[in-house]
Amino acid sequence: LFMCHQKTMKREAQEKLKAEQLRKAQAAAEIPIIWILGGPGSGKGTQCAKIVEKYGFTHLSSGDLLRDEVASGSDKGRQLQAIMTSGGLVPNEEVLSLLNAAVSRAKGNSKGFLIDGYPREKSQGIAFEQTIAPCDLVIYFECSEESMVKRIMNRAAAAAVKRADDNEETIRARLHTFKMNTSEILALYADKTMTINAERDVEDIFMETVNIINCLMQKKAKASASC
Ligand code: AP5
Repeated sequence: LFMCHQKTMKREAQEKLKAEQLRKAQAAAEIPIIWILGGPGSGKGTQCAKIVEKYGFTHLSSGDLLRDEVASGSDKGRQLQAIMTSGGLVPNEEVLSLLNAAVSRAKGNSKGFLIDGYPREKSQGIAFEQTIAPCDLVIYFECSEESMVKRIMNRAAAAAVKRADDNEETIRARLHTFKMNTSEILALYADKTMTINAERDVEDIFMETVNIINCLMQKKAKASASC
């Protein structure tokens, strides 16, 4: 009876090891998922457009997905608009379900995902990784409040159609929301976060971003080869 028990234990351990190896191989083969963080006007969208051009990744901006919902004119869109104009955060169920649907639509053909403006709260990050997929890398564009306000005001002045939340009062509220939540997110994901000084010229920021993404791609290729 003892021998039989030993054999069962050994078989279970082997199966567990196999399952773990399979899980690792799948994770390595998966396409990269990168979260892009930064305050309002830090340059997330600008850098994402350049990353897409270079790597062909799928860019999903939580703000854009929400604005599309607002533009649809639905009742839900009207509620979202009110929250966005106040500079607060839309409930995560709304954002996560939009992101989940967009990731599912793109998954088969995507080379990687840039999730721009998400997570904005610690709990959003946890929910994303539980529901959609683990994140490989967090890129945080660090920028002073003064520069962020200046950039958004410039964008608003140049735009033919101004964003409803690009006015001084809402910008202050957006900055406040950002400041309240970001350090907690950065602390939770410290081991996979790369902080970039976003106070510089667009091209300099992009060069550093490219180095970081290249590093991730090499790491993923190596992990996939060694599995
Ligand atoms: P969102 O649309 O994500 O807005 P944001 O975070 O406030 O950021 P912006 O889009 O204004 O700026 P950006 O960092 O992309 O900078 P950009 O490249 O455009 O969110 C809007 C709202 O939606 C939120 O307030 C919230 O209500 C809701 N929401 C969104 N996500 C949510 C979530 N996860 N959960 C809950 N609610 C959510 O650049 C700005 C300007 O600066 C441009 O004119 C650009 O040309 C210029 N610029 C860029 N880089 C530089 C540079 N290096 N030097 C000089 N100028 C530059």
